[in-house]
Amino acid sequence: MILDVIASQRLDSRGNPTVQVEVRTAHGTFRSLVPSGASTGVHEAVELRDNDQSKYGGMGVLKAVNNINEIIGPALIKEGYDPQHDLKQIDGFMRELDGTPNKAKLGANAILGVSMACARAGTAAANIPLYEFLRRESGEESPYVVPVPFFNVLNGGKHSGNGMAFQEFMIAPTGARTIEEGVRMASETYHCLKGIISEKFGAIYTGIGDEGGFAPPITQPEEALDLLTEAVAKAGYTDKIKFGIDPASSEFFDSKYGTYDLGFKSIPEGESHSESVRTPKEMMDLYNSLMEKYPIPLLEDPFAEDDWDSWTKFCADYKEELVGDDLLVTNVERVRMAESRAACNAMLLKVNQIGTVTEAIDAAKLAKSLDWGVFVSHRSGETTDDFIADLTVGLGTGHIKSGAPCRGERVAKYNRLMDIEAELKGSWKPWFYAGEQFRKPEAF
Ligand code: PGA
Ligand code: ZN
Repeated sequence: MILDVIASQRLDSRGNPTVQVEVRTAHGTFRSLVPSGASTGVHEAVELRDNDQSKYGGMGVLKAVNNINEIIGPALIKEGYDPQHDLKQIDGFMRELDGTPNKAKLGANAILGVSMACARAGTAAANIPLYEFLRRESGEESPYVVPVPFFNVLNGGKHSGNGMAFQEFMIAPTGARTIEEGVRMASETYHCLKGIISEKFGAIYTGIGDEGGFAPPITQPEEALDLLTEAVAKAGYTDKIKFGIDPASSEFFDSKYGTYDLGFKSIPEGESHSESVRTPKEMMDLYNSLMEKYPIPLLEDPFAEDDWDSWTKFCADYKEELVGDDLLVTNVERVRMAESRAACNAMLLKVNQIGTVTEAIDAAKLAKSLDWGVFVSHRSGETTDDFIADLTVGLGTGHIKSGAPCRGERVAKYNRLMDIEAELKGSWKPWFYAGEQFRKPEAF
């Protein structure tokens, strides 16, 4: 039984307001903090902001907070739901209470905060770890999978002030034997990368972006991948660490002409962009040449969220993992559209894109049933809430991204994953680190 639901306005990692929810039951008080994106997809569930320019530059979330305190909380208490057994009903009830297809009335940030805190309340009542509770919710039965972490160590796009159009360059310790070893390999590589950047560009360029990665003054993807190659070699992990790229290309897509502008950050507005504009075919050639030159088993959002034709064309003879983020927005309808168009072969899973825990689980289950990969993700605006670490183990997704091995809100997830691994090691439960099998760990 839910005894009380209290929402408050707190800060996220960018210093913007976000929603905190506390759900009180007989077992204690259970808290969640809601994340927030910068390169958000247009099809995402709606994040309610106050738009009151006199406070927090319009970014306040007091409307969402009030919707919880005055509408959602009292209604849930009245219904008498039990978080241990009724998470799906609680999520469904909030969806109906909202009544819009994209949670625009009460706010996905309000609804998600309650959903996550209820999951934690249910976990406490069941007296099991959160990953175990989420595993039961999803019906997962294969051995426990500790995911390969993808560390975003070079930040571009909307996540940093440099001229790099591509948003994320990630390192993934696929050759580690445990996540503990993988985290060490990534941290050592990250520090080598810092030294290389300091030597090449000067110590002033070792400042970091929103997700904890460096943001040196580079503009071309090859420059980024060369830096990573050098750092991995210096750390001694060539062949054991592979790369992932998320260009987040919706951010530099021009829907009028169907083209992509790699100079959207580096070339001032008003100056000629003729050199930096690429057709979809030229983007495909660029990606293929990068794949040939570097070990890149994962590519996310290479094309814009509604540039379906390019996705389908590129996916046709693509062997590596092709992840839809803005394309799918963790939404089963969009996953079905992508499946019918053969547009990608993996889904990014961000709980706040869809707005409830159980809808995110449903989307992951659908993606798995299509034999797709599922890649769990943080947002660029994060909090110290480590919910997604348990979620990725609960769903057995085999890989997760939570930024660099740096910044408290990023390492909170990696630290929790190491705790989970230590717990599994000391238990009777069958488990393994996904390693090279991160795409389809259940086939291991
Ligand atoms: P966002 O970026 O959280 O700013 O949307 C993450 C991503 O694009 O994967
Ligand atoms: Zn993305």
